[in-house]
Amino acid sequence: MAQKILILDFGGQYNQLIARRVRECGVYCEVHPGDMTPEAVRAFDPIGIIFTGGPGSVYDPAAPRVDPGVFDLGVPILGICYGCQLMAHALGGLVVPAISDAAREYGKTLTRFDTGCALFRGLPPEGITWMSHGDYMEKVPAGFTVTAVSDACPNAAVCDETRRFYGVQFHPEVNHTQNGCTMLRNFLFDVCGAAGDWTMGGFRERAVADIRRKVGNGRVLLALSGGVDSSVCAALLSEAVGEQLTCVFVDHGLLRKDEGDQVEAAFRDKALRFVRVSAGDRFLSRLAGITEPEEKRKAIGEEFIRVFEEIGKESGSVDYLAQGTIYPDVIESGLGSAAVIKSHHNVGGLPAHVRFREIIEPLRMLFKDEVRQLGRELGLPEELVSRQPFPGPGLAVRVIGEITPEKLRMLRDADAIFRQEAAAAGLAGSMSQYFAVLTNLRSVGVMGDGRSYEYAVALRAVSTEDFMTADWVRLPYELLDRVSVRIVNEVKGVNRVLYDITSKPPATVEFE
Ligand code: XMP
Repeated sequence: MAQKILILDFGGQYNQLIARRVRECGVYCEVHPGDMTPEAVRAFDPIGIIFTGGPGSVYDPAAPRVDPGVFDLGVPILGICYGCQLMAHALGGLVVPAISDAAREYGKTLTRFDTGCALFRGLPPEGITWMSHGDYMEKVPAGFTVTAVSDACPNAAVCDETRRFYGVQFHPEVNHTQNGCTMLRNFLFDVCGAAGDWTMGGFRERAVADIRRKVGNGRVLLALSGGVDSSVCAALLSEAVGEQLTCVFVDHGLLRKDEGDQVEAAFRDKALRFVRVSAGDRFLSRLAGITEPEEKRKAIGEEFIRVFEEIGKESGSVDYLAQGTIYPDVIESGLGSAAVIKSHHNVGGLPAHVRFREIIEPLRMLFKDEVRQLGRELGLPEELVSRQPFPGPGLAVRVIGEITPEKLRMLRDADAIFRQEAAAAGLAGSMSQYFAVLTNLRSVGVMGDGRSYEYAVALRAVSTEDFMTADWVRLPYELLDRVSVRIVNEVKGVNRVLYDITSKPPATVEFE
């Protein structure tokens, strides 16, 4: 691995965003805990270090600290918000709590820059920045000069060009900061000398070589759900170790229309052992009579383990268990902690008796958009690579109440129509998730000359950044009309179409 940026995390809510911005510039980076030792930093060998923001105050004894030895390594540093205050505090400046509301800045703030500073080179002399801080730097450390000011903050940015230390009170990584990306690029390219040559092609080559080195002649087992992460993981492992890889795809019969076949087709010609277990009937019998959502999830999880156990027995021992863990999972589950078996939604955990030497997680350093990029690079079909998130329990949580084959048929057909029409309208890529739900509501209608008493389908479309909150999408009426007309005409058993106009919160994305 050539050039790396080290991001030291002090608990900031934007730590992942900083990492993504750096990667978008073609520079590899990793997020590590803020208290990394200078020896560990030296061993990591970064071309530059970024201190993230954080909720703490440098005067709080429990607040995260940086080892002062990190400042003696001769590596350029950019401190953001709390990271800036930490740097100032550690190097002899004075950081004080803002006593007045005026000094406590939050939100979009007009800021004036010294464009002679390497960080702000090429920028207009003033612009909007995103501030979010309680403490502020009252006195800058020796050797530093002030390079940006706002009305409330006389030291909105500082630098020591000799030691190549830069600090900003605001957040260049968020979109609200005008030219924030240019500031980060200036730091990466002009200050740290980054080449910007980190590509997915390069990642693929290194990942394949690493997997081969680690696995040797060993056998690898991967539970393939058909989702983006496990599919890309399968394609990468197949390139690395070919038939030493066994992918078990448990088709629980709760997938969307034609989905099982699409997954199989994507892997048919790849070098690997692909085992598709068509267990729809089993899952349906297990789900018979169950109406409560969490009970459905539990039943599916348990059945999954049982199916997997049987396959495990048939296929003998394995050396490595592969998981499609991605970087946000790693960051969110606590940095630096050893790999834990993800309580994987999709497989509901794996049976204890599947023994293996080690877990391998070839995607653990990639963000979701990078995983998709790698999938394209590996030749996976676009429909698989750009797939929207789909819950592990599948359509079971989109058929409200008891699940029957007939209800699944209605839902599959209605959902396929919605997806086809959204794609035809060119809107599929602009929604985070969109799908049909078969409600448990039956209502009266007229069909031809007769009265009908049939099911209502609800359409759901949301846009969201993180799925913690979500907005319902203002879909064009023409599209809703086309979908509605097609569903009631083409899907037998449905006579009414509803559109869900509830955001999250108070509603969730799924109905169950
Ligand atoms: P909710 O409904 O909780 O959904 O707002 C947020 C996101 O999580 C997905 N989801 C699930 N994914 N197993 C999964 O793998 C589940 O049981 C499950 N429930 C919800 C949902 O599709 C959305 O992306």
